Amino acid sequence: MQNRVKLSTSSNYPLIPPNNMANITVLISGSGSNLQALLEAERSGNLGGKITQVISSSEAAYGLTRAANFGVPTKTHVLKNYYKGTTKDQVDVRKQKRELFNQDLARLLIYGNIEGNQDATYTKPDLIVCAGWMLIISPSVLTPLENAGISIINLHPALPGAFEGTHAIDRAWKAGQDGEITKGGLMIHKVIAEVDRGEPVLVKELDLIKGETLEDYETRVHAAEHKAIVEGTNIVLKELKSS
Ligand code: GRF
Repeated sequence: MQNRVKLSTSSNYPLIPPNNMANITVLISGSGSNLQALLEAERSGNLGGKITQVISSSEAAYGLTRAANFGVPTKTHVLKNYYKGTTKDQVDVRKQKRELFNQDLARLLIYGNIEGNQDATYTKPDLIVCAGWMLIISPSVLTPLENAGISIINLHPALPGAFEGTHAIDRAWKAGQDGEITKGGLMIHKVIAEVDRGEPVLVKELDLIKGETLEDYETRVHAAEHKAIVEGTNIVLKELKSS
């Protein structure tokens, strides 16, 4: 249970003056329990930044209610709306729609609207935290963010180099039960084009216990996640603020 990664001070991240509060956008897709951990940390003065908005990839995400309960503005950006009127076999059309979705996401994050219009009332984030965001962040999002000086991190419920993509908790648990591995865990990492492969910011190992139910393992992962998401975000915020 420790930060195993030594952070270099030569990061690519832009620096925030020490007295300024960093603005954070949280991306979610579902329950938002990790968002809740961040919101509670902010409320109790334990987050080194301000959550200025939450964007969900699902209109049904309970995380939207959690954000509203804390008075944080929300938006939705929903892939299935872009696919409307197409069928699954229209692979190329869907590819184009997906690319438009990604480009719109970048504009939404940078300008506050998908048209990319300047809006003086919009608070551009310094940091984006993917907290249970279930869609791939592609280069067509990452490159504009980088050009706009916006950093982005993600929560992955497995150790570095392990179980990239979806259902990571289930796959780690199964590998543990099958005797293939003895350690599971999770990490907060910088987002790069390769899914769940970016440089770890914080790693938490968890023992995989033979005979433990998936449900119990999941409960332990979530408890560890809720601490790690706050710790990892604070590590990056500190990095952004330091010279
Ligand atoms: C977390 O387990 C996260 O690691 C995974 O999806 C879950 C999101 O949970 N990718 P929540 O929406 O924060 O409750």
